Amino acid sequence: MRVIIEPTYEKLSQWAADYVVNKINAANPTPEKPFVLGLPTGSSPIGMYKALVAACKEGRVSFKNVVTFNMDEYVGLPEEHPESYHSFMATNLFNHIDCPKENVHILNGNAEDLEAECANYEKMIAEAGGIDLFIGGIGPDGHIAFNEPGSSLSGRTRIKTLTTDTRVANSRFFGGNPDNVPATALTVGPGTVMAAKEVLILCNGHNKARALQAAIEGPVTQMWTISVLQMHEHGIIVCDEAACESITHGTYKYFKDIEKDNL
Ligand code: GLP
Repeated sequence: MRVIIEPTYEKLSQWAADYVVNKINAANPTPEKPFVLGLPTGSSPIGMYKALVAACKEGRVSFKNVVTFNMDEYVGLPEEHPESYHSFMATNLFNHIDCPKENVHILNGNAEDLEAECANYEKMIAEAGGIDLFIGGIGPDGHIAFNEPGSSLSGRTRIKTLTTDTRVANSRFFGGNPDNVPATALTVGPGTVMAAKEVLILCNGHNKARALQAAIEGPVTQMWTISVLQMHEHGIIVCDEAACESITHGTYKYFKDIEKDNL
């Protein structure tokens, strides 16, 4: 695992955006062989999305031959609801870049048959040739996408019930009331993320310090689903100083040291 420690959230976001831009450009994608990108929602990726929008506007990258798959979506929230992940992605990224509509995939939390929706999502990922780079965030309890503590680490796209912790954490987007946060969501599984060729996790802020510690130093456990990243051949976490408060000084120094020439 690579752990990139940046001084601030802004620097973390720029690092992540530059990484994505370089990957897309290096792949030189075409309509026949697009670059397949897995994308997250939440507050963590907002800075990276801003930097990606800027890069696209400046002509440093194009998303014309990029195919995207989002991680998750609430069940039963209308797509046009301002807090749906459909709205989030339109507002923060897709309305501002040149990615064709037909290349964008987001789970439909209002599908009549939710299980069929999930199975079809996995099928579409496979048909696209698998995900080249899956970007994610982490919840304060170490969840990745909506794979709450106790989720099968090999699970695939399916319906999950959100924990009280997550509903409380996300209530800031729903007028402060956890009861307004949908109780269930469709989400890719840890197995879906792990099948990507590369995984890049964004982790910022003091409230993520315990999750970062579990991700890097703890055992692989279903109680911190992000810990599964330890089993990935090409896993990267980019974090800020504030998120590093719970890792040991030795761990901190080691990752700083091995990454110092890679800036
Ligand atoms: C939600 C999302 C996750 C995200 C997490 C953290 O639960 N389903 O994908 O990683 O929130 O969100 P934030 O980045 O706002 O801390």
